[in-house]
Amino acid sequence: MRYLLGNWKMNGQIDSIKAYEKNFKVCKGYDEVYLGIALPSIYLGNANGLKKKVFIGAQNVSEYEKGAYTGEISSQMLADLDVDFCLIGHSERRMYFNESDESLNKKIKATLTKNILPVLCIGERIDDETKLAILKSQIQNALSNLEPNIPLVVAYEPVWAIGTGKIPTIEDIESTCALVKSIIKDTLGVEKPVLYGGSVKSSNSAEIVALKSVDGLLVGGASLDPQEFINILKTY
Ligand code: PGA
Repeated sequence: MRYLLGNWKMNGQIDSIKAYEKNFKVCKGYDEVYLGIALPSIYLGNANGLKKKVFIGAQNVSEYEKGAYTGEISSQMLADLDVDFCLIGHSERRMYFNESDESLNKKIKATLTKNILPVLCIGERIDDETKLAILKSQIQNALSNLEPNIPLVVAYEPVWAIGTGKIPTIEDIESTCALVKSIIKDTLGVEKPVLYGGSVKSSNSAEIVALKSVDGLLVGGASLDPQEFINILKTY
């Protein structure tokens, strides 16, 4: 199975969902691709039409089950809206909302109890010699005390590549994703799908998704345009 996930971040309005759904043409012949879009949570209940065409995801979930946590959204609430997957620990959440690996571990567990596929996001802030240690500690801490057979996808997104138009070299993407796969295997005992994210568009997606250690893509900005998202799918 390969994956193509979009992340709208805090973009779009209620009408954008309908417009997207209308302009989104389901591509034939891509049955082996898990196609999904992570919407702003407030709109997840308005995505029934879009859900007939793609899997629907949330961009965050509370680590808590329920209670006095004003403003939080629980995994049960996401499940009530039929949410299929959830991004966990996107770099913007780590950076602006101080999410720690320990809390991401709880968030992953929260999604698993409701059969929501967790998509753990990891990535280094600067491309230097500390990269390996950072990726290792992000993976080991977020995945501690989890069973090997859990459904899980990991998205490797170098923070410096997100929304900047800069991407690592193709060789670097391959070697880092291979490394991420081996750290996951050492941590859980099994391999899990690894996606690449950061400034992906239809003009660079073909060579990235063709890489041996890349099982798919997580796309931010370029997923806001349904035609561009489909163009990326066509490069699979
Ligand atoms: P980008 O974002 O594709 O706009 O770089 C990727 C992401 O944040 O997941």
